[in-house]
Amino acid sequence: MKCTVCRGPAVIDLRRHNANFCADHFLRFCRDQVVRAIDEHSMIEPGERVLVAVSGGKDSLALWDLLLGLGYDTEGMTIGLGIGDYSAASTEAAVAFAERRDLTLHRVDLRRDHDYDIPTASAVTRRAPCSSCGLSKRHLIDKAALDGGYDVVATGHNLDDEAAVLLGNVLHWHTEYLSRQRPVLAERAGPRHDARSDGRSGRGSGSRVFPRKVKPLVRLAERETAAYCVLRGIDYIVEECPMAEGNRHLRYKEALNVVEAASPGAKHAFYFGFLARAAARFAPEVDGAEGELRPCARCGSPTTGEVCAFCRLVDQAAGQDPVPVELVRPGRGGRRARTKAGS
Ligand code: AMP
Ligand code: FES
Ligand code: ZN
Ligand code: ZN
Repeated sequence: MKCTVCRGPAVIDLRRHNANFCADHFLRFCRDQVVRAIDEHSMIEPGERVLVAVSGGKDSLALWDLLLGLGYDTEGMTIGLGIGDYSAASTEAAVAFAERRDLTLHRVDLRRDHDYDIPTASAVTRRAPCSSCGLSKRHLIDKAALDGGYDVVATGHNLDDEAAVLLGNVLHWHTEYLSRQRPVLAERAGPRHDARSDGRSGRGSGSRVFPRKVKPLVRLAERETAAYCVLRGIDYIVEECPMAEGNRHLRYKEALNVVEAASPGAKHAFYFGFLARAAARFAPEVDGAEGELRPCARCGSPTTGEVCAFCRLVDQAAGQDPVPVELVRPGRGGRRARTKAGS
């Protein structure tokens, strides 16, 4: 197998691009795909401060490495979700990456900072772990970006992630979610966000209530971000979250992999065809559905109610006896676990 560019020995074949690459040309390919995504979707302007949400997995570490290589002004943030060994190893990978390169990594820990963790939240709310996990991550990442005055948040969502979410939204015709499935979510203004938690007003925080969020890896598949990390010598946590095991999102990924194997390029066509030809049709539905925002009475974050969903989750889950991961059924919520509130 020879590199399509230089005819040297290839290390990877990319069937959907009908190409093979040697290590150097593969790394260049990844970089080009990220540059193209950033340019085509106007994700990041030169000179902007970027907060990279880092899980310790291959995607977000590859993303941080790629953005650094492209000269962006980045800092990282990682959230300790308290999902047993999995979370400990994830945080460790993120910290090791940052320390080795002398980068700034902000750390939030759910148990230390908010007195709960995801297994306990799942058990108490009796909902799938991914729902309290997603809610916590969105809230804390947005808050860190606004408080720190970052211009933009970058996450490591890749083509497989986006295509799987799209498949789920289409299968269930979640039309209200379809137009949010863009590689860039614009920042939103609204009633003034509370002052920074340290009392100073953050640069650019003004009346922003949601920061801009971008997904520069949307043109790269999961297999490609893994290969990128291996070739760049980046240690990432290989295990998947034990609580996501068997959930719908993973099943949609598997289904798309079957289609992709028979028809290389299908995932790309599905997702980018949607962006080009369908996404805009759902925009009015979202504009109408967003409702009026006001500051949460507790934390100042934007919400349509009196108290935001994050503060309500903390009310339910904080102070409960920690529930071990093993007692929470993966992907289904904590029905097996007993808690102070639920027993
Ligand atoms: P996931 O929701 O696990 O598919 O992750 C999607 C993206 O969210 C990752 O690529 C990261 O950018 C971000 N992310 C996930 N988990 C964390 C975490 N624990 N801390 C900070 N960012 C995270
Ligand atoms: Fe969120 Fe697993 S990472 S539930
Ligand atoms: Zn080559
Ligand atoms: Zn709140």
